[in-house]
Amino acid sequence: MTAPASTPARLQVRGLHKTFTLHLRDGLRLPVLQGVSLDVAAGECVALVGPSGQGKSTLMKCLHGSYGADGGEVLLQRDDGSTLDLCNATPQQVLQVRRREMAYVSQFLRVVPRVPALDVVAERRLHARADLADSAAADAALVEAREAARALLARLELPSGLWDLPPATFSGGEQQRVNIARGFIEPASLLLLDEPTASLDSARRRVVVELIEEAKARGAAVVGIFHDEEVRDAVATRSVNVRHLA
Ligand SMILES: Nc1ncnc2c1ncn2[C@@H]1O[C@H](COP(=O)(O)OP(=O)(O)OP(=O)(O)O)[C@@H](O)[C@H]1O
Ligand SMILES: [Mg+2]
Repeated sequence: MTAPASTPARLQVRGLHKTFTLHLRDGLRLPVLQGVSLDVAAGECVALVGPSGQGKSTLMKCLHGSYGADGGEVLLQRDDGSTLDLCNATPQQVLQVRRREMAYVSQFLRVVPRVPALDVVAERRLHARADLADSAAADAALVEAREAARALLARLELPSGLWDLPPATFSGGEQQRVNIARGFIEPASLLLLDEPTASLDSARRRVVVELIEEAKARGAAVVGIFHDEEVRDAVATRSVNVRHLA
């Protein structure tokens, strides 16, 4: 299935089913997503709302391709105009989409030991532009990626004394700013945001709101979970309850 040419939704979720089987509880089955359908257009930010445990993060992980689905389709319109069903894509196709076209910002940073904060951010851009011709091109790309990472970390007001340190010992809010910088350094066409501002104070939350607005303005489709109502009201073009999507 492809989007009609006149209104090409960047993301089309169709009849998505996800059931968890709890092996430690005699195979108890927990149906979380039961036929979820949702369209997200370029430039739109859809906020997933609803009580705890309804499946917001589960839906987000299915969109990211980290959870397989039991049925349905997650159709992503790719930058080259083709459509990929993330539910039936190969791991290689999912990795390729994640490299450049999709960014996922979770509440917590997955810390890689010994990699300084600056490179945690810069690496994301390098991975997205991995097809570099030779080592001179790779060196130039590293310089440029670090420059972009510095600019973003400065904008998020991460103290510059931390940039060369691995984020393992950073506070929750400091780690979250590294995570946000990593998510926004490349202009992904699909942005998945799971509580991106949960550990931030109001000044830093405003910067994240600006970054999301800029992403929408350049045509990114955004799906987010924002428990902070002020942030949600500022960025969401609409809010949907996961239970009501079926
Ligand atoms: N990997 C998993 N294995 C088993 N059950 C899971 C798994 N992930 C989520 N669940 C269950 O699925 C349901 C939905 O969880 P999910 O994390 O998607 O909720 P949520 O809407 O994001 O909640 P919150 O607002 O608290 O973050 C919960 O009952 C949860 O226990
Ligand atoms: Mg959640």
